[in-house]
Amino acid sequence: MYQVIILGTILLVSLYVSKRIHNQKLNMPPLVRYKIPIIGHTYSYLFNCEEFLKQCKKEYGDIFSIYVWGHVRTIVGKEYAQDILSRDDAFNFSVAFNKKFPGDLLLKNLGPFDPTRLLKDHITCKLDLYSERMQKSLYSATQKYIDIGDHDGPKVFNNMYHLMTRIISTPIANIFIGEEESQYEEVIKTFSEFTSDSAALLKVPPILDFIYPGLQNYFNRILVKSGLYNPATKHQDILTKHIKNQVCKRLEEKKKYGDSWKRPNDFLQDIMERDDFDPINVSYLSLADRMFALIFASIHTTAGGCANAFMDLASRPQYMQELYEEQLEVHKEADENGVLPFEALNKMKKLDSFVRESLRLVGHLTSLEHAVIKNYTFSNGLQVPKDRVVYVYADDVYQDESLQGPNPKSFEPFRHVDKNTVASKISKNYLPFGGGRHACPGRYFAINEIKFFMHNMILNYNFRTESGKVEKRKMIGPAALPSTSGIIIEKKVK
Ligand code: HEM
Repeated sequence: MYQVIILGTILLVSLYVSKRIHNQKLNMPPLVRYKIPIIGHTYSYLFNCEEFLKQCKKEYGDIFSIYVWGHVRTIVGKEYAQDILSRDDAFNFSVAFNKKFPGDLLLKNLGPFDPTRLLKDHITCKLDLYSERMQKSLYSATQKYIDIGDHDGPKVFNNMYHLMTRIISTPIANIFIGEEESQYEEVIKTFSEFTSDSAALLKVPPILDFIYPGLQNYFNRILVKSGLYNPATKHQDILTKHIKNQVCKRLEEKKKYGDSWKRPNDFLQDIMERDDFDPINVSYLSLADRMFALIFASIHTTAGGCANAFMDLASRPQYMQELYEEQLEVHKEADENGVLPFEALNKMKKLDSFVRESLRLVGHLTSLEHAVIKNYTFSNGLQVPKDRVVYVYADDVYQDESLQGPNPKSFEPFRHVDKNTVASKISKNYLPFGGGRHACPGRYFAINEIKFFMHNMILNYNFRTESGKVEKRKMIGPAALPSTSGIIIEKKVK
């Protein structure tokens, strides 16, 4: 036994030393000086991140490394940010994510799966067909969750993000798994809570990484694997049951009615009609896990985008009238149920610019973490080794006048009007959806949802911040979250 431990230790130390020696041969980005061993830059990164990063860039240049939570991370400034997004042979988003999150254990039945292909084949090309359903279910969910009785008067809502996850989940669930009402309440809850419940594992500060890099994730993996803590299980039970009911019902109905069967129009049905779907041997767990992967990518991101846009407008009542007039004009095209034609989205030019500005100033100081999957040399000669995690220095991109135009960090809602830069268009000065081959494939869907939501709110409600001031994002280290401050909402008297 002792021999095994000694041999194992020798092996690990040799591996570590040989990696260090190999990495020493690389011309790596400068490591910012730090005073306290082990803690390194963790404190400054958490509590004074904006100033800290600015200072690092000033002293060390466009690409530098810092030592946070027991890891050396490399921060890549605006000049080289596109390398991270366009060189997918060297940088990978999912590998970085899996280093800190046991996604493979939570979704262990996922199997081989190309979400981008599926979205392109079955969602993005059908956005016009789904537009009416998206609006109807978005508006009914808004009415339900922003529940203001006719005579209640103004009502204060705290934590819009939380509310938005419910509202946003309703049309997404409708389009993904159908319009069936049974168990719907439960299913919507699962759509809205799966991500935040799973992400609870990310909320624990990775203090074990101070002992050994990666130990925290290893510990989390043991928790999930042993069944001691698995936040996904209850949601998996609910969604798998729902999907099983739906699939069985559809297969039976199809058999019974043959060609006269009216197929449901949704993502689940599309998946059931793909060549790789075997009706004799259906894996419901795998179908549910595929939905969960998309839920993970779509709900909290879109809910955050909506909550931010809503808070940004509530904070700036001076723009309300102009946006109201545009929505009133656009709404003339609505049918008797208040549903707009798909093309009306293109006419919300000022609203689109507002949403783009809100996403542009989403507030993350660093973002788009990617793992280096093979040693990479930037054009300035600096090299990052395989296994390093790199971050785009987003604040550097957004502070730059040559990239953003005048007053780059001030919220100017109509700066994008008539500039051929709609909110879903990625570019090197606009990073909320990433870039390159892996740019978010759900961005058109998300922007449509945010615009329809805002259109409805601007037309039918008055809203303002409870404080009467501009509410800023909530910062946790370099990450920005929607403000949880109160918003006063009341129905418009027409
Ligand atoms: C405002 C809302 C959203 C934001 C801010 C957002 C942001 C992002 C970002 C930053 C990435 C990584 C891009 C990269 O690696 O360069 C991404 C990837 C992805 N997003 Fe979104 N997203 C949003 C909504 C959605 C929605 C609604 C869906 C699905 C309907 C979706 C599906 C995906 C998928 C499948 C990927 C992985 C793409 C790949 O690896 O090739 N996203 N998203």
